[in-house]
Amino acid sequence: MKRIISLEINGKPVELTVDIRQSLLEVLREQGFTGAKEGCGVGECGACTVLIDGLPIDSCISLAVWAEGKKIETIEGQAKGERLSKVQQAYADTGAVQCGYCTPGLVMKTTEFLETHKDQLAKGEMPDRQVIRKEHSGNLCRCTGYQGVVDAVESCCKSLISEISEPEAK
Ligand code: FES
Ligand code: FES
Repeated sequence: MKRIISLEINGKPVELTVDIRQSLLEVLREQGFTGAKEGCGVGECGACTVLIDGLPIDSCISLAVWAEGKKIETIEGQAKGERLSKVQQAYADTGAVQCGYCTPGLVMKTTEFLETHKDQLAKGEMPDRQVIRKEHSGNLCRCTGYQGVVDAVESCCKSLISEISEPEAK
């Protein structure tokens, strides 16, 4: 059975006809948003993570029809033209990207992590590395050993702290 759903993908309103049994991941990939990957397909690895109304969700186990009226953010919404987002750049700079299969999901998770920790960062407090690890533990990577990932998140936190504190220093 088909249904028409209205949603927003990376800031753009769209109307899609979907099968009610289709996952959001399947529909996004059909629409050309192929950054989100299917790893396990059962909500274990986080390779398919996208943000739904700001929350990181495993799109492989989320039905597309549940996205009705929601704002979806995918990895394709991060870079502006050739310019990588700060999170993407940090992942590249710290060597957190090897085969890259997990990276889109991790970048989306980090994007949400920075948003949910922004009050702490605004006070100049760095989140503990253990907290970074724990909060990213739903995103599995078979290549990097996670050190680069944690380094990338720390580097984003540091640059946000200095961005926030700079105006006060002037
Ligand atoms: S593919 Fe969705 S959690 Fe693994
Ligand atoms: S970089 Fe290969 S799975 Fe993470």
